[in-house]
Amino acid sequence: MFTFLDFPLYLMETLKRWSSLHGYVMFMFLTTISKGSACEAPSSPECFRKNTDEILYMCEWSMNKTEGSVTFHLYIDNKKYGSTNETWYKIHGDTVIQGRDVNIWVEAYAGSINCTSPRKSVTLVHLVKYDAPQSISMSWLGNNLSLIWKAAEKHPALAEVLFRKHNNTTESWEKKLINTTTEASKYQVILVNLLNHSAYQVQIRHRSTQAKNPLWSKWSPVVTVPAELEHEPEVTVTTKLLNGTRAVMLTWKQILNAAAAVSGVTYRLEDTQSSHGCPCANKTKTHVKTNKSTIYVSYSAVNISVTAINAAGHSPLANIQLPAKPAANLKICDNTEKEKMKKNTCKQWYELQDRELKPENVITLANKKSKGAKQIKASIKDYVRYLYFEHRCDGGKPRTVKMCLYYKKEGAPQREPQNFTVTSETLDSANLSWETIAIEDQRGFVTHYSLCSEKISSQDERKECRNISASLLTYRLENLTPGAKYNISLAGVTKEGEGPSAKLTIYTQPEKPVNVWWSFGLLFVFFLSSTMCTIILKRIKNKIFPPVPTPVIPDFFTYQPESQEMLEEKEEVHELMLSPLHPEVKSVPEDTEETTALHGEWDAGSDEDMGDERSDSRMSGESSDESPGSTDQALRSSREGEITDLEQVDNEIAMLIYRNGLVFDVKTD
Ligand SMILES: *[C@@H]1O[C@H](CO)[C@@H](O)[C@H](O)[C@H]1NC(C)=O
Ligand SMILES: *[C@@H]1O[C@H](CO)[C@@H](O)[C@H](O)[C@H]1NC(C)=O
Ligand SMILES: *[C@@H]1O[C@H](CO)[C@@H](O)[C@H](O)[C@H]1NC(C)=O
Ligand SMILES: *[C@@H]1O[C@H](CO)[C@@H](O)[C@H](O)[C@H]1NC(C)=O
Ligand SMILES: *[C@@H]1O[C@H](CO)[C@@H](O)[C@H](O)[C@H]1NC(C)=O
Ligand SMILES: *[C@@H]1O[C@H](CO)[C@@H](O)[C@H](O)[C@H]1NC(C)=O
Ligand SMILES: *[C@@H]1O[C@H](CO)[C@@H](O)[C@H](O)[C@H]1NC(C)=O
Repeated sequence: MFTFLDFPLYLMETLKRWSSLHGYVMFMFLTTISKGSACEAPSSPECFRKNTDEILYMCEWSMNKTEGSVTFHLYIDNKKYGSTNETWYKIHGDTVIQGRDVNIWVEAYAGSINCTSPRKSVTLVHLVKYDAPQSISMSWLGNNLSLIWKAAEKHPALAEVLFRKHNNTTESWEKKLINTTTEASKYQVILVNLLNHSAYQVQIRHRSTQAKNPLWSKWSPVVTVPAELEHEPEVTVTTKLLNGTRAVMLTWKQILNAAAAVSGVTYRLEDTQSSHGCPCANKTKTHVKTNKSTIYVSYSAVNISVTAINAAGHSPLANIQLPAKPAANLKICDNTEKEKMKKNTCKQWYELQDRELKPENVITLANKKSKGAKQIKASIKDYVRYLYFEHRCDGGKPRTVKMCLYYKKEGAPQREPQNFTVTSETLDSANLSWETIAIEDQRGFVTHYSLCSEKISSQDERKECRNISASLLTYRLENLTPGAKYNISLAGVTKEGEGPSAKLTIYTQPEKPVNVWWSFGLLFVFFLSSTMCTIILKRIKNKIFPPVPTPVIPDFFTYQPESQEMLEEKEEVHELMLSPLHPEVKSVPEDTEETTALHGEWDAGSDEDMGDERSDSRMSGESSDESPGSTDQALRSSREGEITDLEQVDNEIAMLIYRNGLVFDVKTD
């Protein structure tokens, strides 16, 4: 039923049908007449969507260039879907045509001539063709090469990878079909068992694994994969101090491995100061192509790393650790906390432990973070010594403008000085030595030590304390009482008070017993030395100036002129020789016993060498002062000897004398 308003629509529809029918008839007619004419038919169109979620279909075809402009009409199942001057056309996939088999073709109109592509029966919904892989990144995993590119859809794809060694372009491509993995909108494939110290050329195409009739995407451009950078750059560092700023000059060797540098190498410099957010610091992260660079850092501790980077990844890091550079003579901070945070200022508190800076325990308060300033300040601990740094940005370079030692709050030391010992004690003094209290136990600035001594023996003496410099590690206690016992204590003192004290007891040496023993010793030594001296002197004297007797009968001596004692004896013998004239001679046999003994002594003496006899007498310690006695004895002995046993006497002289005597005696008898 047509209403009045419906009429025009009906008319239009009828007209349309008629014209299409007319067109078809015309087309059939023209194709028949154009056979063998100049029109070259375009290729049959290829229609696909870019991924399985897409509803727009792209239809592409090709046609060898003909003169003049060409217009193409796209037909699906006898329905003209549009006309274009390009070799592609996008259609909206509607439910009618999508799911079923359809015939597709293209008609080309060049002036008065037209030609038609071959027809092709397809089911559009199954046709998926991805875009060529883009932004391919690569990295080496040992000898495996990982290739990553943008995913066409959330489903994994099948990839075809062509690869060959970079330096061998005549070599044919190797081909691998690999199912990709998908992660974070990226496709990844891993080519195993390549050589990571060689460069490669790689090309990839991929296709859907979801669609029934997937089409291969176009090939990606050929990408060059450089060899892996295996070694960190060899960096040499020179640091120059510029009044609060450190200029760190870094130079390193260029990467010489051509395979690794095939697509260029850059170097990345990073420093840890930038992460603190101190002023200027964010400017210090750089990429350079040269083999040297200068980085400006403050006096705060910093780690600088240099990495070589190529398309396939980066080398290991060359890490340069620069410790904090505290001033030589650090002072105690003056009211840093009360100072207001200036613009472009950064404050740092380094925890000090055992005189070491602990960069991991650093509190940084940068200007930008002023919101958290209160929290940061609250994290500074009481009783902990910090090295305080203040940095500014000066001419684009970070500069340390202040360094000092800081306590948020001081307390008394929590430990005593260590290894408190007495090194030597005398009568009235003692040397003490100790080691400092560890910094974390000081809990404040030790202003001095308090050294106290208390004499134990007598109750009336009281505790005596003195303040000694905090820089001392030894002390000599003087004016002590000899032989006394003292309790000594030593404690570190901060402005908040005194800490626990190290204690020890000392005993001074007693005075008197020592003196008596010393006197005894000295006396003994004196006695011994004097005795020795006399003996030695005597010997020397006897040797150099032997006693010279006045020879009475020098003519008798044909030999042994040096035997002086002999001479003396002979003289006496003469006297004796005279004496036998007296009646005493007869009485001799009465004291035979004594005389034999004496004679024996004398005889032995005479048998021996004269020198020996002399030395013997000296050895016995008889002094020359006693000579009268000895001469007496000698006189006597010799006298008796003569009388009793004259024949046995060797001495020629004596013999002569006695023989005369005997002769005389015999004659008298
Ligand atoms: C274009 O011409 C070349 C040879 O000249 C032929 O191989 C090719 O198939 C032609 N392409 C089309 C779409 O007709
Ligand atoms: C390389 O791939 C092979 C085979 O999948 C594997 O056995 C090997 O562990 C891989 N190497 C590395 C370094 O990932
Ligand atoms: C990819 O995965 C599919 C299904 O999981 C499997 O049938 C096919 O053989 C795989 N292809 C390759 C090259 O591994
Ligand atoms: C170093 O810096 C201080 C300010 O922090 C400045 O007073 C001084 O003149 C500077 N010295 C030199 C040599 O630049
Ligand atoms: C520098 O590196 C070492 C070791 O990796 C680390 O212990 C230290 O905290 C780092 N220093 C700075 C200032 O980051
Ligand atoms: C030692 O120093 C303290 C201050 O810590 C002071 O009060 C005291 O008088 C000093 N003692 C001596 C003996 O100087
Ligand atoms: C002296 O020191 C000892 C041990 O250190 C202690 O037992 C003694 O009580 C101390 N004497 C005084 C008077 O402090």
